[in-house]
Amino acid sequence: MSRIAYVNNQFVPQSQALIAMEDRGYQFADGVYEVAAFIDRRMLDEARHLDRLERSLHEIAIPMPKPRAALSLLLRELIRRNARDSGLIYLQVTRGVSARNHTFPASIKPVLTMNVLPVAIASDAARNVGVKAITAPDLRWKRCDIKSIALLPNILSRQLSAEKNMRETFLYLPDGTITEGTATNVFIVDTSGVLRTHPKNEAILGGITRDVLLEIVRAKNIAFEERAFTRDDMHAAQEIFFTSTSAFLMPVIEIDGKIVGNGTPGAITKKLTELYKAHVAHEVAA
Ligand code: PDD
Repeated sequence: MSRIAYVNNQFVPQSQALIAMEDRGYQFADGVYEVAAFIDRRMLDEARHLDRLERSLHEIAIPMPKPRAALSLLLRELIRRNARDSGLIYLQVTRGVSARNHTFPASIKPVLTMNVLPVAIASDAARNVGVKAITAPDLRWKRCDIKSIALLPNILSRQLSAEKNMRETFLYLPDGTITEGTATNVFIVDTSGVLRTHPKNEAILGGITRDVLLEIVRAKNIAFEERAFTRDDMHAAQEIFFTSTSAFLMPVIEIDGKIVGNGTPGAITKKLTELYKAHVAHEVAA
């Protein structure tokens, strides 16, 4: 399937999408990114992704590479030029290209790249079964709210679960607090039946899926708390699931070798999945 990318202000075949060696993204991981879904060729929650992009850029003092309206048109054009009807868009902005110097050069211009990822959004079949996961120490920096391209701790932690044929690694602080997954936010239904997730602060990335789900949960008056939980709470939880753009809600049926609930997706997880899917259907409706 032919893939078309956007690089150096133009659309080119993916194989010709090359960036400069002295791009600060390449040399310093000096940049931020977004991953957004499109379904039936329509962007899911586009405004929320652009809001988060603007915020991440602002936090590290990189200007928006294009006005929002222009970015929006480019996203549409990227979808139009690619063969997939549904999938994931990767968008990255780095500070720009300059001879290597820790200080930002004054005249530097941000570099925007975008492409369609060769992976699919998780299927209902996968969500009906659920996945296995492990926990590992959270080795990241203190501004996990910025969607930084510096993902070395995330990829190393994710590799730990991948090597065990598991789907995700949830990260914990020295006091045992679970923050989030390597590329997902995590929720539990605790032993009292309360839905809980880590509060949105500098310890986690504010996921768009998480935000939307919490808005739904509030609107439906479902009991929940944005209150951190520990590894022990997670091991005792009735239900666990994670959220992300590519997974929506994914039930976790085994954690650190322990079966969660009865080893199948829990009732609250299933109910929230249906509510979230209704949001998706509404968003991408013609
Ligand atoms: N990951 N937490 C982290 C650390 C993430 O990297 C992500 C997203 C999330 C979930 O956010 P959202 O619901 O907006 O996808 C939480 C993307 C998908 C990635 O890196 O591929």
